[in-house]
Order: sequence, then structure tokens, then C-alpha cells
Amino acid sequence: MQLRTMYKNWSGLKGGYILAFVFFLQANAFSQNIIIPVETQHSALVLQTNSNNNLNIVYLGAKLSDKKEYEAITAQYKQTSEYTGVSNAAYPASGSRNLFEPAITVTHADGNNSLDLQYVRHETKKLDENQSLLTVTLKDPVYDLEVRLFYKTYFKEDVTEQWSEIKHNEKGNVVLHKFASAALYLKAESYWLRQYHGDWAKEMQPEESRLTHGIKTLDSKLGTRTDLFQAPVFMVSLDKPATEEEGTVLYGALEWSGNFRIELELDNQDNLRLLAGVNNHASPYTLKPAEVFTTPAFLSVLSFRGKGGASRQLHAWARNYKLLDGKGDRLTLLNNWESTYFDFNETKLKALLKDTKALGVDLFLLDDGWFANKYPRNNDDAGLGDWQENKTKLPNGIASLVSEAQANDVKFGIWIEPEMVSPRSELYEKHPDWVVKQPNRKEYYFRNQLVLDLSNPQVQQFVFNTVDNLFIKNPKLAYIKWDCNAVVYNAYSAHLTNQSHFYLQYVQGLYAVLQKIRKKYPTVPMMLCSGGGGRVDYAALQYFTEFWPSDNTDPLERIFMQWEYSYFYPAISSANHVTDWGKQPIKFRTDVAMMGKLGFDIVVSKLQEKELRFCQDALKTYNTIKPIIWQGEQYRLQDPVSNAVAAVLYLNEQKTSGVIFNYLVNNRYGAGSERPIRLKGLDPKKRYRLKELNLYPGTTSTIDADKSYTGEFLMTIGYNPDVKAERASVVLELKAE
Ligand code: GLA
Repeated sequence: MQLRTMYKNWSGLKGGYILAFVFFLQANAFSQNIIIPVETQHSALVLQTNSNNNLNIVYLGAKLSDKKEYEAITAQYKQTSEYTGVSNAAYPASGSRNLFEPAITVTHADGNNSLDLQYVRHETKKLDENQSLLTVTLKDPVYDLEVRLFYKTYFKEDVTEQWSEIKHNEKGNVVLHKFASAALYLKAESYWLRQYHGDWAKEMQPEESRLTHGIKTLDSKLGTRTDLFQAPVFMVSLDKPATEEEGTVLYGALEWSGNFRIELELDNQDNLRLLAGVNNHASPYTLKPAEVFTTPAFLSVLSFRGKGGASRQLHAWARNYKLLDGKGDRLTLLNNWESTYFDFNETKLKALLKDTKALGVDLFLLDDGWFANKYPRNNDDAGLGDWQENKTKLPNGIASLVSEAQANDVKFGIWIEPEMVSPRSELYEKHPDWVVKQPNRKEYYFRNQLVLDLSNPQVQQFVFNTVDNLFIKNPKLAYIKWDCNAVVYNAYSAHLTNQSHFYLQYVQGLYAVLQKIRKKYPTVPMMLCSGGGGRVDYAALQYFTEFWPSDNTDPLERIFMQWEYSYFYPAISSANHVTDWGKQPIKFRTDVAMMGKLGFDIVVSKLQEKELRFCQDALKTYNTIKPIIWQGEQYRLQDPVSNAVAAVLYLNEQKTSGVIFNYLVNNRYGAGSERPIRLKGLDPKKRYRLKELNLYPGTTSTIDADKSYTGEFLMTIGYNPDVKAERASVVLELKAE
């Protein structure tokens, strides 16, 4: 370089020349050595040790066919001076030379705050045909502290999971002030971040903007239902905003259901440092000698085929490896939350079980309000924690409902919110020390309730027993909706001696319970719900078959929301219910809910004859197309923000069958599908027919089902679904001849 550049930059400073020269000499006293490429089908992350034996990221981008050429990459960059040799560190440490945001900050046993991580060794294990695990060990040359970095790759899906382990053998405890899961380093001309914010009923609101210099932080400090205001998922396009099919884009997601912190730092060299991990807010961790601190995983997928390419890779990965029963079946259901709220009894529910059968879904889901006696759960201000059937509402218990369900040939599922407690509950009276609250402060409630202290093993056992008892008493119970409605206020655990460990150990406690439940009940479907969509991430989804995106089921809103969720989560995991939210007719509502796992939450007995018939037929249709929606590849064709008509295609792997959902999302005069919508992913040579599904009784389709088109035509010219005010929602089946 660098001598000249360094001199130029430092010449304004007194003595700058000498400083620069010393650094230059020192840097060259060591030779460059180890290169570790972490490759997937299309991408490569290249790690390299520098002259000081620090491990750096020298490349993250498209894979090169000749691995040897990775060595030549660095020399091609003529950026401004790099002063420290660690600004692109694989795991930036603080307190020695690093000048940027660290992944790790510690105070050693002797009170010293410095850390320098140097390469010791690495090994790569091939776990199977598709998965490999690289482990790199780094160590401080002065202190006996070691960090192991893990890179697990899923070759075909282009997904990498990264996490780290921190361990020491010092003569006392080490305090970890920061402990990120992963660091990445990107080089591009510009970086475009797509991030998500929200609130109740407004989950997954996107914002896309160019990153400017400095640090952009996406984080949560809510303790539980941590996605309420911000989601732990994001994407960064390189050089220009990626479109659905074009551009380079990196998706990132932290696999953690608690406080998270994702930082994107655009530095002086115009490179982007990305750090992701558990939020260190109020959480310094005291690490004992020989104790291993393991961070959760951060996943990323790098696509060179736009946002659509990345999401299809991620969906495949989720179904193959992460989401519980990702390749399996799901149950359609009728939920009673919005049709009864807390106001029901056995007679009313038995009638709903008949409606469940009449509608044609697989399962009836009994929601909130079935439990607690001393403080009956007739409102949201009492009873949480007292998981015994309410004797007034259900004198014969859940058991009689389960057998009544069986008599009606439907399955039975139930709502619980086991992490929570109402101030007015027997549980609170008996175990005030199980409740998260400050001993000397006034209680403060979120939805009139408090959170149980899951860092306490007794509470973990209680939560496990809540679920276990339900199954022991009702072995035929077929589904659980697991809710989590409150955030953590006044974080304090009567169980923990170190309060700084609370946020972390709460989540670890939650996972311990879920693991225990899954050990005993490995397959029972469970919905991850959180007062709407306040909790969804890939750590939790290992234990759940589906998640609840939002309490907002207005279909128009859902078109936008499901669109955004669909970048990160496959359709099979999205629980979509037809409700009375919104102004659209039942057909529109049902069509939208079909783009995922379909359910209903309506008063079936109040449906008009045609409405009921429509729903019954739609369910039959759904049963035939659900394999394509759940397991097929998703192509977002036209987005609802910039078009009057939004369209999404699900296509099977063989490219022989597909379903296209089209919706009018604009009310202006004459709005509709003026131009054809170009399909994607088809075989250009195959001929396809399009047939309209989900027709409302008494209407006829304007689509000619006898005509066929080549894949080339449908992808080049497109197809007009004839969406207009009178046909605001059009579902088309695509079949190769
Ligand atoms: C949350 C859920 C709803 C419903 C209620 C019950 O708000 O998101 O679907 O289960 O709790 O209290």
C-alpha cells in the first residue's frame, strides 16, 4: 500500500510519518497465511489470517470456481487506509486495536478490558451430503480466553448459520459485556437495508433505505414477545436495491426469541460490518472459569437472484431443517376467539363443534377463557396461571369436549398462555416469587398481566406440567395455540442471584421447557402466537409447526403483511384465519387466508347459505392445492405497494402445477389488471392451462380454461387474471398439459 497512502493520511499530524512507518514495518514482519473459504452452492465467505495472526473476512460474495483465486481478492481493493489490520475481523474484539463496533467486549478476572483474538486452529466436518460445520478457534495471546466460531453451511440452500462459544481459564470470573453470535463484512458501492417495525395489529411494516455512515441498530429490549416493535429479520441489497428476481441481497435473521441486537456499521472505508446477537442491554454476563458461553445462531443467505431467489432458498432450508415438521401436514381449523371471546359454555362449544364439522375443517380450537375458578377467566384481567377448567363454563371438563369433537369426527385443540400470570390468580397468591416484578416497586401491567420467571427451574417445571397435564388428561388433544401477550416490565427474578442474567436465562428457560415438551410430544402441532405476531424466529420455530403473523386479519392488510413475512418464512408456517375483520366479502378473505395454513374464526351459523357453501367448497379445493402452497416454490409476481393488483404464484418443483393468487388492492375508479401479469419460474417449453378456482356460488369465470399457453408466453407476455372491482380476488390453477 500503503506507505504512500498512510503517509498522505497522516502527514497532517505531527510525527505522522514516523507512526505510519513503524506500523508498516511491523505489519510486514509476519507473512500472510491461512485462507478458509466457507462455500455454499453459489456463495463464499472467505476468512484469512493476517500478518498479526488475526482472522479476518476478506470476501463475502459469489463463489469462484478456482479457490486459489480468493487469495488475489484483497489486492484488488484500493480503498483508504486500514490502520489496524482488524477492521474486517471475523469476530471483532474490543480493547486492543479495534476501532469499530466489537462483537465481543470483556473484563478479565484482573479487571483489564483488552482483548485480542488470534487464530489457533480450524477444522471442517462434513455432517452429511449437504451440511458442513467449520469450527475456528481463536485465543488471546495474553489472557487464557478462547472464542470458537462456528459456521454451519447448508450447501444447496446457500444458508449459513453462525454462532460462537466463549470460554476462559482465568483466575476468577470474566464479565462479558458484549457477546455477538456473528460478524460479517461486506464490500459494495452502496448498501440498502430492508428492515421491519410494527406494533399490535401492524406487524412487519417494511422500510427500505440506503445505509449511511455510522451504525444502524435493529434491536429489542422487550424481554418477551420481542418482535412487537422490531423484527429480528432484515435484508441488505448490495450496490442497488434488489428486485424480486435481480440483484445481490443478503438476508439475515437471528435465531433467538429474546432481546436481540443487530448492528450495521458503514465504516470509513465504505465497507459494511454486520453484527448480530443477543442484546447485551442490561445483560453483562459473568462467566466462570471453564464455563462455556454459547450464543444463539445467526442465519444468513446470500442470493444473486434477487429477493425472490433468497426467499426460495430460505423457505427450502426452513422446511428441510428448521421448522418443526416442515415437510409434514397441517390441520385446518375453526377457532372461537372472535366469535365468542370469553363468553361461552359447554352447550355453546358443542354447537361450535358441529359447525366445525359442517364447515369441513379438521379441528376445533378452543381459545382463551376456558380456565380458572377462584378468579374465573371471563375477561383478560384474571385467571392466567390457573389452568384448571372453569367449572361454570365447562362442568364436564375439556375431556367431554374432546370426546364430543370425536363424535363429530373433528379434532380438538386448545389455547394456553403458560408463561404468564394474572395478578388476580391463585398462582400469583401461592407463588409471588415466581413472578417477574421488582420487589420494591409498584407493579406495572401489559394487558393486565405479568410474566412468570422462566429462569427459575420450578417455573419451568410448572409450565411443562401445564402442557403435560392437558395431554395426560386428554390424550386425544391434537393442537396447542401457545400465546405470549405481555412484555417484561420491571425485570427482576427472585430466583437469580445475578439479575444481569435474567433476560438471557428467561429465554434459555423457555427453550428448556419447549425441548422437554417436544421430547414427550414430538409431533403435536403447536402455533406460536404472541398477542398477534409478537414472536416469530427460527429458534422458536424448531418447536412450533406454525406462527400467528398478526391479530390483524383484515385481508387487505394481510396481503401486505403476508407479503413481507413471506420473504423470511415459508407459507406452511403462516397461520392465516378468515375472520370478520375488514370490509371484503368472504371469498376475498378466504382466498387471502389460503396463502398459508388456512383457518377460520367466524360464526359459521351466521353465514348465509351461499357463504357457507363457498367456504365448504374452498376447503375442498384447498385440500387439493395445499401441497403446492406449502411445499412449492413461491414467486412474488406483483407487489401490493406499487401495483393495483398484487399477485403471488406457488409452483411445484416439477413446474407442472401451480396456484396464482391475484388481488385488487386499489379502490380507484377503474383499477384492475390492465396489463398481463408475468409469471415466473415456469418451464418455457411446457404448455400450461389456467383455470379459475374458488368461484363464488352463482358466478362464472371469465377465464377460458380450455386455452393453453407456453411457459415462455406466460413469462414473457404474461397472463391477465381479469381482476377488477367485480372480481377483486381471483385464484387461478396452473397445470401443465
Ligand atoms: C392474543 C391472540 C389472540 C387470542 C387472544 C386471547 O391476543 O393473538 O388470537 O388468542 O390473545 O386472549
